Amino acid sequence: MDALLLKIVFMLATVSVFLPASFSIPFIVLHGIGDACRNRGVKQFTELLSEWSGSQGYCLEIGKGSWDSWVVPLDQQTDFACEKVKKMKELGGGFNIVGLSQGNLIGRGIVEFCDGAPPVNNFVSLGGPHAGTASVPLCGSGIFCLIADELIKTEIYTDFMQEHLAPSGYLKIPTDLSNYLEKCRFLPKLNNEKPDEKNATYKERFSRLNNLVLIMNEQDNVLIPRETSWFGYYPNGAFNPVLSPQETRLYIEDWIGLRALDEAGRVKFVSVPGSHLGILRSDMKKYIVPYLKEDPSPKPLHLLSRFTSAWDMAMFKTGLQDNEPVLSPFIDE
Ligand SMILES: *[C@@H]1O[C@H](CO)[C@@H](O)[C@H](O)[C@H]1NC(C)=O
Repeated sequence: MDALLLKIVFMLATVSVFLPASFSIPFIVLHGIGDACRNRGVKQFTELLSEWSGSQGYCLEIGKGSWDSWVVPLDQQTDFACEKVKKMKELGGGFNIVGLSQGNLIGRGIVEFCDGAPPVNNFVSLGGPHAGTASVPLCGSGIFCLIADELIKTEIYTDFMQEHLAPSGYLKIPTDLSNYLEKCRFLPKLNNEKPDEKNATYKERFSRLNNLVLIMNEQDNVLIPRETSWFGYYPNGAFNPVLSPQETRLYIEDWIGLRALDEAGRVKFVSVPGSHLGILRSDMKKYIVPYLKEDPSPKPLHLLSRFTSAWDMAMFKTGLQDNEPVLSPFIDE
């Protein structure tokens, strides 16, 4: 055999030795309200994360996308997502979740409620209303929105709203807590908030996450208060002050395992510049990509990833990577 051929054979053998370690588990992206997987923003977001992490990413659509994200109650959206996840054989060996806004609650629904789903390893949340929100999403300050907002606040805990408006499942008016706990159909269950209906299974499943990355947008005006992205919220009965996650009863009494995860060093509280769902490419690389790359069973660093990170570094240094926000609020279409 000549020397060149020998070299090629040797290289191929080397590559095949290192290759298995380069397969990481896939991830799913769950978009926010009014968005759809076919929209440019979320599509590009998913593609960039796939490209940078080397892991396969799937935007998981629920029903007909944008419209359904508004009008289908979140427990039903979660059921759809749960069934879809179980049918996707690509996810069979476990997967990671990247949630955007409302999609985070569906993601947590998959983790906590979905019987028989493959294990979720890491959960990366961008702008998630984890502790609820005290205003209707995507409504600005126009007069129509102010009126709509008032109407919705008074009617939000009726059966009609609960059955026809998805955000009613996580609108939490701190001054109307008894109605919230009694009539709101989604978040009180997801957060194990009801005093006499706490389900240990939800807590046990949520506590199994390897990493929980909670990213808050510093200029978020959609989530009220924005600290809900970290599980922070208003105290019962008042609109101030905003409690830090560690000051809430959900955390202190550990209703869903957040405290246990945090004490094990598995919760990352991250804050990034940007309005709701805005994030810089550099922040995506810093706070999201590492959690999509990581293999659940740690393996020694292999040559390929050393090469890619060296490559990234070189690209970064030469300024080839821009820092433009890739996702301003997903309100196109
Ligand atoms: C708690 O949730 C699990 C999983 O969904 C379910 O099987 C179980 O019946 C629930 N327990 C109670 C007491 O509701």
